[in-house]
Amino acid sequence: MILTAMASSESVETRLLRMKTIPFVSLITLATAGLALAAVDLSKLPPPATAKGVTFDKDIKPIFEKSCVKCHGAEKQKGKLRLDSLEATLKGGENGEGIVKGDSLKSSLVVSISRLDEDTAMPPDGKGEPLTPEQVGLVRAWIDQGAK
Ligand code: HEC
Repeated sequence: MILTAMASSESVETRLLRMKTIPFVSLITLATAGLALAAVDLSKLPPPATAKGVTFDKDIKPIFEKSCVKCHGAEKQKGKLRLDSLEATLKGGENGEGIVKGDSLKSSLVVSISRLDEDTAMPPDGKGEPLTPEQVGLVRAWIDQGAK
């Protein structure tokens, strides 16, 4: 079961779960946290923006620079994650990739920035301005369009 959770085709719930339970993933925490995670209602995500041709450099980098890079950039790499370039953002952090190209609903980074799951909300509570629904929608559109 743990091996299954580590597989690359894992669901967004499984990945969020692992972010909460490392370093000791037990079957019991898996089962209990799984119940809690069932409460993450992806239908509550802001819809993807309708903008076409969304790119990291043009649209996403300015958002991350304002809200994320002080903890995920050259100076600090919380969660072993950098968000100051397209390459680093796609590479992900200590729990692997947070972005599934072409599918924002499977991208745990989207759940984090939408704050639907309080344990993995980014920026962390009280540590920065939450992203607006419009910004989350733009990140979704960027991922759905292939995360270029
Ligand atoms: C004040 C510092 C801070 C800010 C600002 C911040 N983060 Fe984080 N982030 C963390 C910490 C600390 C972790 C490590 C996981 C944890 O303990 O919550 C983390 C982990 C993450 C992870 C999981 C990485 C992994 O593989 O485990 C993602 C994704 C993430 N942040 C995205 C963002 C995004 C996107 C923003 C901006 C909207 C952001 N963070 C802003 C501190 C921050």
